[in-house]
Amino acid sequence: RRYSVIASVIKNANVGELTEVKGWVKNLRVQKEVVFADLSDGSCAKKLQIVIPKRLKADNLTYGSSVHIIGKLSKSPRGQLELTAEDVNVLGQCVVLDGYPFNPRTTHPPEYIRQYLHLRSRTNYISAILRIRNAVTKHIHNFFTSNNYLYIHTPILTSNDCEGAGEVFKVLPDNKATIKAMRQQDKSDDDVYFGTKTFLTVSGQLHLEAMCRGLGNVYTLGPTFRAENSRSRLHLSEFYMLEAELAFCDSLEQLQNLIEDLLKYIFIETRNSNEDDLYLLDKEKKPPLWLDKNFVTLSYDEARNILEKKGLNTSEDGINKEQELALVEHCNGVPVFIIRWPKEQKSFYMKESQVDNTKVEALDLLAPITGEIVGGSLREDDYNKLKSKLPSDALNWYLELRKFGNIPTAGFGLGLERLLQVLCNVPNIKDTLPFPRWPHNCDM
Ligand code: 4AD
Ligand code: MG
Repeated sequence: RRYSVIASVIKNANVGELTEVKGWVKNLRVQKEVVFADLSDGSCAKKLQIVIPKRLKADNLTYGSSVHIIGKLSKSPRGQLELTAEDVNVLGQCVVLDGYPFNPRTTHPPEYIRQYLHLRSRTNYISAILRIRNAVTKHIHNFFTSNNYLYIHTPILTSNDCEGAGEVFKVLPDNKATIKAMRQQDKSDDDVYFGTKTFLTVSGQLHLEAMCRGLGNVYTLGPTFRAENSRSRLHLSEFYMLEAELAFCDSLEQLQNLIEDLLKYIFIETRNSNEDDLYLLDKEKKPPLWLDKNFVTLSYDEARNILEKKGLNTSEDGINKEQELALVEHCNGVPVFIIRWPKEQKSFYMKESQVDNTKVEALDLLAPITGEIVGGSLREDDYNKLKSKLPSDALNWYLELRKFGNIPTAGFGLGLERLLQVLCNVPNIKDTLPFPRWPHNCDM
């Protein structure tokens, strides 16, 4: 027999209708004649109130148990939709005293919940964030589809280190027989499987650029990997990146406009699609104050001057996290583009500035909570300049893109998890995806 998801039961509110639901008991209130249970099935932030008459002998029911309920929908005297059970079938008991970590009468802090990655989808905090994550990916696809961008699946396995930062994970077969059979005299075991050293991708950008010179505007959204020894609240070893490459684009301003439109679109759409989830996370439900403001733009040199006036001196390595957040604060919490960066701080593929050849036409977008949320640039389209900066012969294919019918392009990468931190006001990036990976943490 068919059962209904709680999101539709609540939406349709068909009072008087015989209804079947399945889910997890979140809370129980035992009274003289009845037991009240709050039921959740993950389909929405709201819980359905179940009224269980004493004759159904639900006295042993515990929170955390999974149940199948058949009953009639009605409205309580206070106007709340409730399901009066005619049959209660416990699908899986939850023996709370056996170590079930969550208690409905406690608001557990995220650090506590994070100790139970396998059980934390049952919590309000994580389930709300993951429903929002699902919605955000849909809004991203809608935005790009309606702007005529093509969704490209870029590879996970690759022989290049796009960012050139040496933060790649190496991929090797874990099978001695395979290695032995494939070993060639002049190859190290690193190169034996594909004949070349192979990594997990740090960015799909270079592959997107190839697709862009043939298909026009393109984007991708997929997992990327960074072997950074960083245990900050902002870094993961595996994260999802949204990347777009704009064909025939030679202006940073055009790139900035697209990024600003995209972020505002995602925020507005999510406030419509996931109002209740946002409410669970933030009872005050304040829209971010920058939604109806223009993002700020500062050149790298302007940003440095502002920081110096605040007594925060920048180093050769650029702007650090504390300084990023100070810049956002300086702009009253409105996201700020920092543009035109010193060449030596940025990657080889970025276009040299026509105005100042010590700079490249690059941008970082800084947001509240995370600081950097987007990195992007115009791409070097001068064959010889690119050739002189190419980090390895393995990228000759990338150089060749500039030889045959080249076009100016620009693009950016946005970390999905950092976007969710900003959108949901989540301090720690590890709470924005189901199974976070960071140094020394890949147990399941
Ligand atoms: O600035 P990044 O390194 O840019 C690139 O990879 C470019 N190839 C993108 C492009 O132009 N197509 O990374 C882009 C964004 C960062 O701004 C940040 O939001 C996120 O990816 N990011 C991380 N998120 C979580 N954990 C990490 N270790 C991250 N590293 C980068
Ligand atoms: Mg960056």
